[in-house]
Amino acid sequence: MLKNKDILDEKDKRLRLVSKDVTFPLSKEDKKTINLMVEYLTNSQIERLAEKYNLRPGMGMAAIQLGIPKRYLTIVHEVSEEEFDTYIICNPKIISNSIEKIYVETGEGCLSVNREVEGIVPRYARVTVEGYDLDGNIIRIRAREELAIAFQHEIDHLNGVLFTDYIDPKNPYKDEDLYRPI
Ligand code: NI
Repeated sequence: MLKNKDILDEKDKRLRLVSKDVTFPLSKEDKKTINLMVEYLTNSQIERLAEKYNLRPGMGMAAIQLGIPKRYLTIVHEVSEEEFDTYIICNPKIISNSIEKIYVETGEGCLSVNREVEGIVPRYARVTVEGYDLDGNIIRIRAREELAIAFQHEIDHLNGVLFTDYIDPKNPYKDEDLYRPI
C-alpha cells in the first residue's frame, strides 16, 4: 500500500521531468504501480480509510509523482457517495477541447503540493483524451468539468508542469472574469 511519503513533494526536481511514453505489454512492475495508485486514490476519498491510513484525499495521480518518469496516470472520480469511476490511461493526449475555460473556485490541489495555494488555474471545460488502456488498446475519454480539470492536471505532470506554475503569486486572481468558476 502506498503511503503519503511515497508521493514526491513539489520541491523534488523529478517532478519537472518530461515523462517517456510506455510500450506494450506493460511490465509487471508498472501494472503493480497502477494498482497501487488506484488503491491509494480510492481509499483516500473514503473518509474512514483516509483517516485509518493517514492518506491525503486526491482524485488523480501520475506515475512521476512516485518518481517513475513514464506516461501513465490514474484518476478515481467520485460520482456519488463512495462510488467511483476509475480511469487508467497510458500515453494520453488531449485531442480536442472546448473554447470555454473554467477553474476550481476553491483552488486546485495536488498530492505533491502540501500547502494551500490560492489563485486561478484556467482549464478547458471539456476535453477529449486519447491514449491506451493497460493492454495497449486505444481508448478515448470525453471529460467535462471537474473530471476534465483532473485530466489536464495529470497530463501536465507528465510534462513536468505543476498547477502552481499557472498562478502569479502577486496577482493570483488575474483575468478571473474570463473563466467560469466551478
Ligand atoms: Ni497533482
